[in-house]
Amino acid sequence: MEVSPWRIEWSDELSMSNSEIDAEHRNFIRLVNELNNEIMSQQRDKAVVVRILNQILDDAIAHFAHEERLFIEKSYPAREEHAQLHAELISKFKQALKDIHATEYGRIWIATGLEIRSLLVNHVLFEDTQYIEYLRTE
Ligand SMILES: [Fe+2]
Ligand SMILES: [Fe+2]
Repeated sequence: MEVSPWRIEWSDELSMSNSEIDAEHRNFIRLVNELNNEIMSQQRDKAVVVRILNQILDDAIAHFAHEERLFIEKSYPAREEHAQLHAELISKFKQALKDIHATEYGRIWIATGLEIRSLLVNHVLFEDTQYIEYLRTE
């Protein structure tokens, strides 16, 4: 995995061996890069940052619901604990949107971009990887 603080690239380390889930995770990596690129660009635009954050929130709601449906289908034993982590992420993304709305570009924006990135990447790396054997499609 690339270690730049602002950008992340897809790598096999992030693969869940489930092509639909992988496609959704790749979409998050793309959006997180877009978010941080916008925040770090000279022409950063609050409307664009808010739009990308809203997209991350909407896609996360749909993606988490997708995972939780598969957990039931595949009888994944840790499904309730995992769903709880999803709920916590959604509330953090909502808070991030509020923080951006309430401020102009500065320390909070930079911290928010990096936080969203690490919340999503860490969830995939340390939590989603736990279900690989249950949801494997390839
Ligand atoms: Fe996921
Ligand atoms: Fe998850």
